[in-house]
Amino acid sequence: MVQTIEKQKLFINGDWVSTDDTYKIYNKYTGGVFAEIPKASYQLVDQAVEAAVHAHKKVPFTPEQRHKVLLRVAELLKQNLDDFADTIAQEGGKPITDAKVEVSRSVATFLMAADEAKKLVGEIIPNYNVEGRFLYTIKKPVGVVAAITPFNFPLNLVVHKVAPALAAGNPVIIKPATDTATTSIKLCKILEEAGVPKGYVQCVTGGGSTVGEQLLNDERIAHYTFTGSPGIGKHIQKTIGLRKATLELGSNSATIVHSDADVEQAAVKLAKMAFVNAGQVCISVQRIFVQKAVEEQFMKAFLQHVAELKVGDPLDPETNVGPMISEKEAIRIEEWVNEAKEAGAIVLTGGKRNGNIFDPTVLVNVKKGMKVVDEEVFAPVVSVTAYDTIEEAIDLVNDSKYGLQAGVYTKDMNLSFKIPYLLEVGGVIINDTCCFRTDQMPYGGVKESGNGKEGPAYAIQELIETVTVVINLEG
Ligand code: SIN
Repeated sequence: MVQTIEKQKLFINGDWVSTDDTYKIYNKYTGGVFAEIPKASYQLVDQAVEAAVHAHKKVPFTPEQRHKVLLRVAELLKQNLDDFADTIAQEGGKPITDAKVEVSRSVATFLMAADEAKKLVGEIIPNYNVEGRFLYTIKKPVGVVAAITPFNFPLNLVVHKVAPALAAGNPVIIKPATDTATTSIKLCKILEEAGVPKGYVQCVTGGGSTVGEQLLNDERIAHYTFTGSPGIGKHIQKTIGLRKATLELGSNSATIVHSDADVEQAAVKLAKMAFVNAGQVCISVQRIFVQKAVEEQFMKAFLQHVAELKVGDPLDPETNVGPMISEKEAIRIEEWVNEAKEAGAIVLTGGKRNGNIFDPTVLVNVKKGMKVVDEEVFAPVVSVTAYDTIEEAIDLVNDSKYGLQAGVYTKDMNLSFKIPYLLEVGGVIINDTCCFRTDQMPYGGVKESGNGKEGPAYAIQELIETVTVVINLEG
């Protein structure tokens, strides 16, 4: 098959701009060149910010327009579902079936954001103690937003930033992940076609961290919205000073399988969600805690379902687990697994690497101090640990610097209502894994998993300014 190389352009101030300086994106399975991406110079990034500031100050984009445009984007995205899914599978290595789900989710995210554009209303503040004053609030866009986005959901995690920013009336500059920038550039084409006014969406790619650094240091940008590692999240917060950021960072998410649960159901779902997108999901199932009474039953079923996973070509609709984003990342996780083995961990299945493919790996006999337990693996590696009491399981989940989501399989109603108060996480999923997300829900963690919530209705709250108006009725 002859591979067509997609030569992409930057989207700045409504124009498509090429540069002499470019970098290549590779198909993550075949290794062939997939796309050529421009590297934005300092001047081009500066122009993008200037255009966004101009749009914010001078170009009207009413709530009604925003609502209509976002609905149109959803429609266009749906029409182009196959092309987006194919791009995500090739440049991101995500199995095509999951890539299609990602595009459908992005359509839904735009529809939700379109609704939010109509809901930005202030309120009248009751005044019971100062005579002759009328108090109310209005909602205004915060200003220019920079969206710094990851490779693992190259469309939907961009949409979770762009759609609420536009719904709130803010211009947004996208700095996509180097490895999966084509998806963002294609999204800009759709945003343009749908009628987003000039300057309201721009995409600058750099092939490294220079563009991101320039954006962080540009005081004209009001808000940053980022998904990525805690290290970079902390760096962003430190660099931007008093300006605000929404930070969706990592996790070593856990799921508890209590002895009263439907153990078979838990095993099927956990075998899928520990390895979806090769474990490169912030809420991927990394730690499983199973009550001793059902340990044997669970392990038997779980290992059987893991063995059924098909590893390979992301373009094959039968594939469950594709390649990791790079060989470097696959080598990193191979080292972590080997280190854990040396410290006593036992590999029940997997543990092998072939280039950037890492086989679904199940570890037992793990303990604190191992990177596969304490750090975010972001790879197809899960550990299983048995516990005696639910209190012990809760302590194990909480014994982490992260706190994004947790899953609990149980049929105990009382426990279902009680446990969300006891787990130190941003979301608790009962009778499903920690790797559950639907796009309308508030999504975001505590501790080193970040701050702020995604989900259009929640994200938009961070992207609007509440301005208080006081009228002196005697004036
Ligand atoms: C993430 O990796 O944080 C996104 C998970 C999802 O949207 O399913």
